[in-house]
Amino acid sequence: MYQYNNFDRQLVRQRAAQFRDQLTRWQAGELLSDEFKPLRLQNGWYVQRFAPMLRVAVPYGEISSPQLRALARIARDFDHKEDHDTRQANAGLSEVPTLPDRCGHFTTRQNVQFNWIPLSRAADVMDLLAEVNMHGIQTSGNCIRNITTDALAGIAPDEVADPRPFAEIMRQWSTLHPEFAFLPRKFKVAISGAAEDRAATPWHDVGLRLLRNAVGELGFEVRVGGGMGRTPIIGSVIREFLPWHQILNYLEAVVRAYNRFGRRDNLYKARIKILVKAEGQAFVDQVEAEYRDIVAIDGAPHTILEAELARVSAFFVAPTPSATAAAPTPLSEAERAGFERWVQRNVAVHANPALRAVTLSFKRPGQAPGDATADQLAQAADLAERYSAGEARVSHEQNLVLPWVQREQLVALWREAQALGLARANIGLLTDMIACPGGDFCDLANARSLPLAQQVLSRYQDLDELHDIGPVDLHISGCINSCGHHHSGHIGILGVDKDGQEWYQVTLGGSDGSTLSGAATAGRVIGPSFAASEVGDVIESVLVTYREQRQAQERFVDTVRRVGLEPFKTAANAVRVSTAREGVSA
Ligand code: HEM
Ligand code: SF4
Repeated sequence: MYQYNNFDRQLVRQRAAQFRDQLTRWQAGELLSDEFKPLRLQNGWYVQRFAPMLRVAVPYGEISSPQLRALARIARDFDHKEDHDTRQANAGLSEVPTLPDRCGHFTTRQNVQFNWIPLSRAADVMDLLAEVNMHGIQTSGNCIRNITTDALAGIAPDEVADPRPFAEIMRQWSTLHPEFAFLPRKFKVAISGAAEDRAATPWHDVGLRLLRNAVGELGFEVRVGGGMGRTPIIGSVIREFLPWHQILNYLEAVVRAYNRFGRRDNLYKARIKILVKAEGQAFVDQVEAEYRDIVAIDGAPHTILEAELARVSAFFVAPTPSATAAAPTPLSEAERAGFERWVQRNVAVHANPALRAVTLSFKRPGQAPGDATADQLAQAADLAERYSAGEARVSHEQNLVLPWVQREQLVALWREAQALGLARANIGLLTDMIACPGGDFCDLANARSLPLAQQVLSRYQDLDELHDIGPVDLHISGCINSCGHHHSGHIGILGVDKDGQEWYQVTLGGSDGSTLSGAATAGRVIGPSFAASEVGDVIESVLVTYREQRQAQERFVDTVRRVGLEPFKTAANAVRVSTAREGVSA
């Protein structure tokens, strides 16, 4: 893992001290709320529907045991719903008390969020984070956000090159970059270094793939202009091969062109995807001209030297595995099937044949997808320390990956994770869904996401059934901002508002661009929206149709593409008809 140096540490601590001063002045009335707002947002503090929401940056998802413990302490000591009860009671919001607190939430962008910390305690939280080199810088606002990558970066057998040193160099370049602090809109970069794209790069403002050219040199394929929201667009390749040492100069050219020409006049058209779509080749020409100037006139100031790449890469060498405890007792017959199923779904092969990457599942009934209670955060920290050299990764699918587990320790780890409820063998299956916080927390929501997630988690508890259905990406967003990536779900659910009621649009056949899902594409709508009470049955009818229609071993998304939407539409609309009939007879 990258270790913060004195400069990094000083930056984070001074930021925490500066934030305390800003908060104190706001509390004393010396700063107006409008003046304080951009200052808190620059540190990851949003104010949401019922309470503030804090987003903590986890650069490219890598997190250490001490950092997980700090998050556990923040969840336990600060993330308290009761601190907000007066406001909720005044607002007459009866559903609020059912929402979870004392937990952190892993996001699709490999960050962590808290939903219930009062602003009055915000400075203490920033100090605690700074002690473990964490912060909320650039987790909000129209700047370059946390650079994301593959949760298996540096350990995947299909890797061309490790993307983490590049992600770290880009983190340093983009952090507080004075020219890019006020872009037209937020800007998200993802890097994949493997043959399989596990970072959804085509869906990002900039998506980078590491590859080798015909003579074996390392470089990047550069895509620009991907994004979801109201207008889902797959990024366009604007450079098929850029030598790796030029990547910062080229990114500078891309962001500069966006900064200059992006639509600042219209919030809904401000993302780079709209500029790339509208301007096409003219945008690419602009980037190339800017790049030529950066190289020829400015002298290519951001060229990455071999020595710098070597220096940063040295932080990412494989750690010495955690000391091996006594060999676990052999599996009993009663344990065998459960263990094998877990290995099949939650354990990934590793570039080092003696090691494995293990995913701890944070998807279970009674818990919002991606939520980790204070106890679970602390338990995950212990597991990472004892089995994974003190390191974990937040995954795009809102789980935690332990990247350095010795093969012979798998049984011991499984037993412990199972006892803690973190070994559900559902990775890549229907219940391993992505969901945004939706109307339960978010001010912008049209509908709630979490009750739908709960319906599916409760309905599909039988692992035999889940394994029979096979891989399905279920993605749920509470509004068109698409934080839950519904466009790229094999099954996508989008909350829409009709006359103040919660309704849901269902799409099928979307893809994030992974090998299993095929080329990145947006799902297609299967008809008018469904009422909240119908969505569970609609999902069930879609899956029943799949099981009727599938050919041997065919996966859900492949069946949808082969047979088309019609049989699924018919099944889903039958749910609507039968609900309407029940409504009439009641
Ligand atoms: C509750 C607080 C949140 C608020 C207010 C919020 C707000 C937004 C908004 C307004 C956008 C659209 C930006 C645009 O297209 O111009 C957006 C995009 C996004 N958000 Fe959130 N978000 C929140 C939480 C989350 C969470 C918890 C996640 C992850 C689970 C997330 C992941 C994303 C992603 C991946 C996008 C980019 C979608 C795209 O490609 O266009 N957000 N968010
Ligand atoms: S998709 Fe909409 S409801 Fe969900 S977190 Fe994003 S802005 Fe909020």
